[in-house]
Formats: sequence, C-alpha cells, structure tokens
Amino acid sequence: MKKNTGAIGVMAALAMALLVACSQEAGGGAADGKAVLRLTDDPTGGAHAVNERLARMFTEHTGIGVEFVPAPSSATDRLALYLQFLGARSSDVDVYQIDVIWPGILAEHMVDLRPSFQDDLTGHFAPIVENNTVGDKLVAVPWFADAGILYCRTDLLEKYGFDAPPETWDDLERMARTIQEGERAAGNKDFWGYVWQGSAYEGLTCNVVEWLASSGAGSIVEPDGTVSIDSPEAAHAIARAAGWVNTISPPGVTTYKEEEARHVFHTGQAAFMRNWPYAYTLMQAEDSAVRDKFDVCVLPGEKGEHAAALGGWQLAVSAYSAHREEAIELVKFLSSPEAQKARALDASLLPSRTRLYDDPEIAAAIPFFPAMKEVFTNAAPRPSTVTGEDYNQVSTIVFQNVNRVLSGQTDAKTAVSKIGTELEKVMERSR
Ligand code: GLC
Repeated sequence: MKKNTGAIGVMAALAMALLVACSQEAGGGAADGKAVLRLTDDPTGGAHAVNERLARMFTEHTGIGVEFVPAPSSATDRLALYLQFLGARSSDVDVYQIDVIWPGILAEHMVDLRPSFQDDLTGHFAPIVENNTVGDKLVAVPWFADAGILYCRTDLLEKYGFDAPPETWDDLERMARTIQEGERAAGNKDFWGYVWQGSAYEGLTCNVVEWLASSGAGSIVEPDGTVSIDSPEAAHAIARAAGWVNTISPPGVTTYKEEEARHVFHTGQAAFMRNWPYAYTLMQAEDSAVRDKFDVCVLPGEKGEHAAALGGWQLAVSAYSAHREEAIELVKFLSSPEAQKARALDASLLPSRTRLYDDPEIAAAIPFFPAMKEVFTNAAPRPSTVTGEDYNQVSTIVFQNVNRVLSGQTDAKTAVSKIGTELEKVMERSR
C-alpha cells in the first residue's frame, strides 16, 4: 500500500514536470546514496534521444540514476544478448525492453508486475496486456505498439498517374515497376520499386506473417497448435516475394533489416517501403529527401485483404535486479500516458494506451496515428502465444528457410514443406 501511494505521488510530479518542461535539459546522475538503474537501449530510429530526456527527468525528480545498456538493433540478436544476461542471473540490467513475442520465453526471469500495476492496466490495449501475461504473471508492462505499414511516395504516384496506393500485391508490383523504370530512364540508375526486410532475422518473420495473412494462407502455426505453413497458398505468397528480389527490390534486400530499408527510402531511392511507424518522424526530418513527399497506408493483400504484423515492445523488471522497487518506479514513469505521448510526438512510436489515439496534439503531429488504432486492433500476431518458450526456435526455422528462398538457394514449395516438417517436430516435443 505504502509503495503504491509513494509511486503515485512521484508519477503525478513527473507528469506535471513533463507537461511544463518538455524541452528542458534535466541533468545529472543519481543523488547520493540512490540507486543507478540500467535499462536496455532502443537503438532503432529516434527513440534513444527521447528516452534519454525522459531518463533525465526521472533522475531529477527521484534522485535515482538511469544508464542505458547498448543493445543490437536486430530483435533476434537482442534476444540472444538478453538470454546471456538472464541465463547468468546477472544484476547488470534492471529493466529490459522486451519484444511482444518474448513474454513466454522470458517469463521465468522477470518480476511479476501485476501487484504494482493492477490499477493501471485498463488504460492499455487489452490484447497486449493479455499477451504479456503468462499464467497469472504480468511479465511486462506495455510500452509501445507496432504494426507493419506501407510507405508510399505520393509525389511519384502522382507523377506516374496513379491516383491511389496499391490495393493488391499485383498493383504494388505493377506500380513499383512503372515508377522504377521511369525514374531510371530519367537518370536515377539506383532507384528501386519496393524495399522491405529480407535478412535472416525476426523482421523477416514479420514480413512472412503479412504475406501469408494477406493471401489467406494462415499464420504459420494456428492458435490451436496446427502447423499450417505447408500449403500451396503459403508457397505462392513466398514465391511471389522471392520474385521481387532483383526485379523491383534490390538484390541486397535479402540482407536488409529495418534501417537498411529506411535508408534507401529516406534518401529518395525507392517508391514503396514496408516498415514500422518509427520511420515516419525520421523521414519527416530536415535531412530527409522525402520530407512531405510520402504517405503511410495499409499493406496490400493478394485479393485486397490487408494484413499488418503485430509488433511492439514492453518493459520488464529483471528478477535478478538489486533495485527492484526503483526499477518498478522507472517502469511506471516510462509507461505513463505523458511519457508515451512524448515518445509518440518525438519518435512516432505508437502508444499502448488507447486514449492517446484521440489526443489532438498527437493527431496534428502524426496525421496517420488515429487510423493506426484500427490497423493495430486487426493486426496479425506471430504465433508466439501458442508456441510459448519455443517461439524463437519456430521463428528461426521460418526466417532461415525463407531467406534461402529469397536468395535463390531453394524454391518456395520445398521450403514450406521443410519448414512444416521441422515445426511439426518442435510442436510434437512441446505437446
Ligand atoms: C519491430 C517490432 C517487433 C519486431 C521487430 C522485428 O521492432 O516492434 O515486434 O519483432 O520489429 O524486426
């Protein structure tokens, strides 16, 4: 009881400070005798700068210091790093930013946050809270939501006579080819139609989930545990994507993660890009070649069924932290409506708190955000709940085999059959 009252007092002070002193430079490390917390960093996009600002405000108001622990940008590599720390029961990290697909994998290493957050949970999207709950344990508190989206060059759509973004994958291929040919003929030899994430890592699994869901090909492993990827529809969807490589997409797309794709689009060298919302703010910055020349829309589908992979990050407190109470306070602050609003405004990160989708200031700064509530509510999840602690193995089987199709080492039909067989074995072991 005492703990909660104290935390709410701190929260109110911080919320006010955020509102009145958004751009102030708060300073300094921990006050004498106070803990220094270590939080894993968010290396992609503009999140680091706003996180540092929030951390400084937290320190100024609580005396508790915050340091950032560098983390790799690839979600796959990040999980490997976390498992090293956690496997060693290391107290070097107090608060982990964890991916929406990891609660089942990391549950045993995290503090149950339900007692400290119970009264605040209804403000977040309910499916994320449910996703973050393993058994009765709240493994992590929602921080921001993500959904795969299509970035389109509106100036080029107009230039080439297209009056709407692509509805189907056929439309996208046709439009990408026309624009690419036109731009190359006009002298831009390095111009490409479509960039996305084809590297062998978690981001490719997100693209695969979208290709399958938008083609009526299921979700790799269905919620009842049935392995569904070995189908003609799934093979067709993956073969289609392989056909983009070196036609409308650069050959290097098979090694692209989020930032490689963004770099090509950001510098004006692509007509379409699949990415997450974080890219928006960066590409509206002054250094961007596409500032005010692009729009955000839903990804195409085989017959117009749109599908966005569900992503997002959560905050979890390590069971091995030597500063558990302070770490919980930091999570309260970072997941507060005020901090989520600051991160939406500064880094176009989608809040996990539903009410912020009606916030006029956010809607004015990032016009596509209000519509994201709908996209996000209907987004396609990866099969992490049904596969639980085996999810990373499942995803690795998917992205490694699909990456081999994209780079021409095998064909899609053989790959989906192989993936199906391997996933059956994983599911069999866990039954
Ligand atoms: C984004 C998503 C995350 C996903 C990752 C893949 O960070 O939020 O859920 O796993 O991209 O690269």
